[in-house]
Amino acid sequence: MALASVITFFLLCCSAIGSQGCDQFVAVGGNFTVPLGYQLKPADSLKWRFNGIIIFHKRPVTLILGKNDDINDDGSLKLTNLKKNQAGLYTAEVHGKNRMQQDTKSTNLCTLDPVKKPTVNITCLASEVVFTCSHDPQPDGINQHDVIQYKWLQDGEVIVDETETSLTRSSAESRDMNFSCEVYNQASSEKSDSFTHGCVSNEAELE
Ligand SMILES: *[C@@H]1O[C@H](CO)[C@@H](O)[C@H](O)[C@H]1NC(C)=O
Ligand SMILES: *[C@@H]1O[C@H](CO)[C@@H](O)[C@H](O)[C@H]1NC(C)=O
Ligand SMILES: *[C@@H]1O[C@H](CO)[C@@H](O)[C@H](O)[C@H]1NC(C)=O
Repeated sequence: MALASVITFFLLCCSAIGSQGCDQFVAVGGNFTVPLGYQLKPADSLKWRFNGIIIFHKRPVTLILGKNDDINDDGSLKLTNLKKNQAGLYTAEVHGKNRMQQDTKSTNLCTLDPVKKPTVNITCLASEVVFTCSHDPQPDGINQHDVIQYKWLQDGEVIVDETETSLTRSSAESRDMNFSCEVYNQASSEKSDSFTHGCVSNEAELE
């Protein structure tokens, strides 16, 4: 019991701290170019560090660590098919011809599971139609950035202020309109196909 709560506390405390100050969110499996924040010159030497550990080192004519393909011509670092364990702090060190250290940018990169393509369920009520946005569950997230948010689109245009998982419309007024939903988190978004409802309004009969 006591041990479990210590572990829980540790997870809450330290994942919360770790997720603060994310400069950039990238979906797991995605690509990202870490900017250098400096225009690299041919005579510069460049080091990239990940969480303090050197992962790339190049002198003007010699490659000391890593592959030429790890960076772009401007010195930015290429990350492809990102894994969760590549989240962390990327820092660069550039020394010019005169050995002077140049100012560069550091990036605290956070990863999130990408959202999955949603589908829309349609429920016909007496005079209304309810569209429900559903998707396969996300892996359990442990920080607030994992939160999934919703948007609704009518004929491709975002409907302002509709951010719940379901959308209710008068079935008569929404005939022949296309509705779709979009799910997103801080790193990715996916749109459903669009749907037209086939609900018959019973409003006249009820009155
Ligand atoms: C990431 O980059 C690789 C190699 O350039 C490419 O094949 C892949 O399609 C890219 N992935 C995404 C999600 O853009
Ligand atoms: C949507 O419809 C599918 C298939 O009819 C069903 O399995 C699923 O539970 C429904 N989801 C919601 C959120 O109603
Ligand atoms: C709704 O979607 C259908 C099929 O994609 C399209 O032919 C139609 O023009 C769309 N209607 C509107 C109002 O956008």
